[in-house]
Amino acid sequence: MHGKRILLIIGGGIAAYKSCELIRLIRRAGGEVTCVLTEGGSHFVTAMTLAALSENPVHTTLWDLRNEVEMGHIQLSRQADLVVVCPATANMLAKMAAGIADDLATTLILATDKPVLAVPAMNVRMWLNAATQANVATLRGRAITVIDPEDGAMACGEYGPGRLPEPPQVLDAIRAALREPGPLTGRHVLVTAGPTHEAIDPVRYIANRSSGLQGFAIAEAAAQAGARVTLVAGPVTLPTPFGVTRVNVESAREMAAAVDAAQGVDAAVMVAAVADWHVAGAPDRKIKKDGSGQPPALVLVENPDILATLCASPRRPRLVVGFAAETHDVIAHAKAKLARKGADWIVANDVSGDVMGGSRNAVHIVSAGGVENIPEAPKHAIAAALIERIARALD
Ligand code: CTP
Repeated sequence: MHGKRILLIIGGGIAAYKSCELIRLIRRAGGEVTCVLTEGGSHFVTAMTLAALSENPVHTTLWDLRNEVEMGHIQLSRQADLVVVCPATANMLAKMAAGIADDLATTLILATDKPVLAVPAMNVRMWLNAATQANVATLRGRAITVIDPEDGAMACGEYGPGRLPEPPQVLDAIRAALREPGPLTGRHVLVTAGPTHEAIDPVRYIANRSSGLQGFAIAEAAAQAGARVTLVAGPVTLPTPFGVTRVNVESAREMAAAVDAAQGVDAAVMVAAVADWHVAGAPDRKIKKDGSGQPPALVLVENPDILATLCASPRRPRLVVGFAAETHDVIAHAKAKLARKGADWIVANDVSGDVMGGSRNAVHIVSAGGVENIPEAPKHAIAAALIERIARALD
């Protein structure tokens, strides 16, 4: 972020106090901040605070741009690399969508030729109101980035979506908005991750030890490389990486349907540890002990092979990468899976140690061209190495 100039517009909501921390984070990351404080925002934070934190003059009204001759509003709106509206109130979003310019902030937004990032924060009903949702859709349609607010308890005592994300997350969004096009810009990458849960009855399930960490790291690396990313995630509690569209599923059959629904995929990376079987005729009521001392007999039925189905489909992505978690004969099993499933690469990892749930991994990329070893590294580094190779293969 070194040398990047952020024009930070602070709207009138209680979340305005978080913009103070955001200024510190941007500056610590090497960026420069110039603040524009709306009349509403000035009821929550003072220009003095913002000036002290940003070490720059704070602009408050159109008519107060003392140096209109040398620092007109047009120049102020264009000298930044990125315009960030944080917090963006419902009123601010409505004015932006309508093209209203009736104060300094809205005039700058209308006059800018730079990317605009809006970080909404408001009461849950205001956020969910059809008017606000329509305004957000309009803005997104104009290539303005609008971050979804977080779910949680609100200052007004209600609960739901509307909270401003924490400043480190807003900083991530700013970094992403500033990013130059990456090697996967314009590509759609599909990633499956995590385990699947196969119901025995409504309260019990069959699962495996997959943490989802490697798949989520790959989704994040693909997004950072500029790709549009769809992450089909089994039941894990990991946060969604920034810029990734997540589809949550439980069972292998739900995962198969979500993969089938993904359109226009250039590369699919199937990291999920899909359960091989589901329980036939799982009842919709809890199974009770019948007093005989005999356990219930579970009949297992094989799940669809999502990877093999995708490889055989007419909509097969140009590059399909499977994973193989093995405890022995790692390369031999990976080679067999490559042939059996029709994938371009199988990324084989030895899970005899603590790879599942651990933060490090070591993999072998097995393809028709041979075997490439990526030595042990943190899972995010393995993800970056893999994404670099995927970008090269798609080029
Ligand atoms: N896979 C899949 N659908 C399944 C089973 C596996 O899409 N029903 C995918 C996984 O996401 C992974 C690859 O196939 O990319 C290999 O998964 P793995 O569980 O190692 O292979 P299996 O075919 O289940 O073979 P086995 O369990 O016998 O080793």
